[in-house]
Amino acid sequence: MTANINLPRILRVGAGASRQLPEVLDELGLKQPLLVTDGFIVSLGWLDDLEAQLSEKGFVHNRFTGVVPDPTTDAIAAGLAVLHLGEHDCVVALGGGSSIDTAKAIAAMAHRDQPMRHYKVPNSIDDGLPVIAIPTTAGTGSEVTRVSVITDTETQEKMLCMGLGLMPVAALVDFELTLSMPWRLTADTGLDSLCHALEAYVSKKANAFTDTIALAAMTAINTHIRTACQEPDNREAREAMMLAATQGGIAFSNASVTLIHGMSRPIGALFHVPHGLSNAMLLPEVTAWSISGAPDRYADCARAMGMADTSDNDDAANKKLVTCLRQLCRDLNVPSPGEFGIDAQVWQQSLELMTQQALDSGSPNNNPRIPNGAEIKDLYQKVWAN
Ligand SMILES: [Fe+2]
Repeated sequence: MTANINLPRILRVGAGASRQLPEVLDELGLKQPLLVTDGFIVSLGWLDDLEAQLSEKGFVHNRFTGVVPDPTTDAIAAGLAVLHLGEHDCVVALGGGSSIDTAKAIAAMAHRDQPMRHYKVPNSIDDGLPVIAIPTTAGTGSEVTRVSVITDTETQEKMLCMGLGLMPVAALVDFELTLSMPWRLTADTGLDSLCHALEAYVSKKANAFTDTIALAAMTAINTHIRTACQEPDNREAREAMMLAATQGGIAFSNASVTLIHGMSRPIGALFHVPHGLSNAMLLPEVTAWSISGAPDRYADCARAMGMADTSDNDDAANKKLVTCLRQLCRDLNVPSPGEFGIDAQVWQQSLELMTQQALDSGSPNNNPRIPNGAEIKDLYQKVWAN
């Protein structure tokens, strides 16, 4: 079998990488960037800094600061209006997954005239303006994926858009931007990365290229995530988490996510649970259910994360894996859906819809044990009872 691997043309990783935008633009022959970010990043002064660097080097640039969480087609339209005010030849994202997904969508839609829903999966977006991504969280991995998730304002559907046109040409991965990240955001985004790596490793589309990257990411995350939460300025932990987030993104973008992400998106869409948190609510239960589909692969994960000893057989390693994942979620204060504030009756009433949306996403088909609708519904019930 041949593995198909897609990556950005330029990856700059390490302290200070985010200050290298002018030289990366030069390297790519790009001259007029539109900068895309949200109000929080603006309030930190980071956009002003970036613009000053660009002005000093003579770049013509403009800004769009209307990024919203769970980006919408309305926000994309507002960004496109700003884009078309100038002769921009590229889009630069500065921010978390929402900013990067928004920048990708603006770049992809720059020269398309149908509504965005016309281009969602199973269609493919193969071209667009070049995107340079500068992530400020260690989580989504969007800086290295060919995916953008945009909510259709008219239908409220969370649309999955995919294609090489959504792959950034460059990613500047600078852990120093995460040094101030608060405890909860660090935990949620880190748990998202952990799910990316774990799901990529057990995915039916896993391959030798993504395996080593996924295992390295899992090792780093379980080693450093608690420290990164408790000591926001710990450079060693932040650097490891940032690299792991990018590795997790590379792994899942080239091997796919599986049942956790498939079941997580409906929880996020219906109950506005932060993405990493809805993944984490599902992580132990879905893992326990899925292990029988690939016990050797899950045991590899347990050993890579130091949750099991190398001398443990697969069965023993997998028992420890589930126990340790439950403990990790407790350590990181992951609430149950009820503790998060979701109403029990609404949860019950939503089970059919969530199950259908999970199945429609296609992600469960990549799971090592493929569930039917009744099994997905049963898993949602179990997660509620936790
Ligand atoms: Fe994710």
